[in-house]
Amino acid sequence: MTTQVAARAGSARNSAEINRLGETHLAGGVVSLNRKVDPALVFVRARGCRLWDAEGREYLDYHAAFAPHLLGHNDPGINAAVARAMEDGWSLMGAGTTPWEVELARLLREAVPNLERVQITNTGSEATAHAIRLARAHTGREDLLLTLGGYNGWHNEVARAVMPSLEQVGPRVSPGEYRWLPLSAGIPAASRRSLHLVNFNDLDSVEYVLRRHEVACVLTEPVLQNIGIVKPQPGYLEGLRALCDRYGAVLVFDEVKTGFRSALGGYQSVCGVKPDLSVFGKALANGYPLGAIGGKRELMELFAAAEASKRVLIAGTYNAHPFTCAAAIATLERLMAEHGAVYKQLEARTARLCAGLEETFNARGVKAAVSRNGSAFCAYFMDHEPRDWHDILAHHDFELDRRLRLAVIERGIYQFPMPCKQGSVSAAHGDAEIDRTLEATAEVLKGLVNREQ
Ligand SMILES: Cc1ncc(COP(=O)(O)O)c(C=O)c1O
Repeated sequence: MTTQVAARAGSARNSAEINRLGETHLAGGVVSLNRKVDPALVFVRARGCRLWDAEGREYLDYHAAFAPHLLGHNDPGINAAVARAMEDGWSLMGAGTTPWEVELARLLREAVPNLERVQITNTGSEATAHAIRLARAHTGREDLLLTLGGYNGWHNEVARAVMPSLEQVGPRVSPGEYRWLPLSAGIPAASRRSLHLVNFNDLDSVEYVLRRHEVACVLTEPVLQNIGIVKPQPGYLEGLRALCDRYGAVLVFDEVKTGFRSALGGYQSVCGVKPDLSVFGKALANGYPLGAIGGKRELMELFAAAEASKRVLIAGTYNAHPFTCAAAIATLERLMAEHGAVYKQLEARTARLCAGLEETFNARGVKAAVSRNGSAFCAYFMDHEPRDWHDILAHHDFELDRRLRLAVIERGIYQFPMPCKQGSVSAAHGDAEIDRTLEATAEVLKGLVNREQ
């Protein structure tokens, strides 16, 4: 192991040793237990589209740390912008505004025209929490309508099981709602009572809930990207907009994953539906920790309401830290450069990868539909792109998905080793890397399919 950080991690030299130390000192052995997976690789270095583990093995990375690295890992241009912020006499001022946060807000509004005002947080979870609070303050209502198969952060209001089994969630109901399965212990009953869960692409169920309950907001990813890539059917997002207008609920698009990965203007610029509020994170700062919330002025200005009883609190010592703002500014500038040239390249490479994967699966007689949204993709082993989580549960070959992921990892292609997790292509993936990925997939598939026959 060669990196300075690794050298400083005591005498640990290899993955097994570092994992052992983790089990000794960290609750659960790793930070964020959703990162605890098998194989328990320990990555110590990253650059562009490549990762290296503690043993020096190289991997092409399609996990991208759950998607933020749109320009690739450790991008020299983004790092240079952060270094400049250091040289420019950075400090976490904690009083008044800063040039970094003002410039970031300006660029965000330029990129996503629906954002009449913005605020800045450290994470996507904070941004969704603020969106819910704004919606409740605005409507005077408490209930929330969320989507089965969506993820919107770790806090009490939204932490429900993302991939429940059929036994847990029960058969499809429409119109109707599902029991909320908490993703965590310690969630109070009041939070559970206020949440209503319906299937994606099911407007009848949305209306069913809106009719019966005082719903403050409908909060959804516009494309479900925590169960792969599940796209809205034609008219679904427009229907959500119309129902929110009819029943007086705030429409919130969680663009933490889709924002800046689907397109510069977020998925809302692709579908043409205007939410009242939008939240962002991940790719916005290319891996530096930053979230944002923005939307209609009348909602956003509640953060600064003159009347104290109407004012919505937003606070956080590290909000709009100059380093993370500098990273986001540099990321947005790059994404905007040359009329979005980065997006053209990302689209073309990801489309080639997806077409190549489909061809590879077809050639081996494996039923597959590779779903793509911009530079995000997921291969489903079923004969159509899914419309919701029940569709995936009913038709996807989870076992083949799991075995294929493990087999390509052994060949140096890193995809998160859990079925239905999104793959992410970065601007650092070139044609040669796409070719290598396709070749490795074809090789391992031969072995997997032969073994099955
Ligand atoms: C769609 C979506 N919303 C919100 C979040 C929460 O963001 P963070 O992990 O930055 O708190 C995530 C994280 O994966 C996400 O995918």
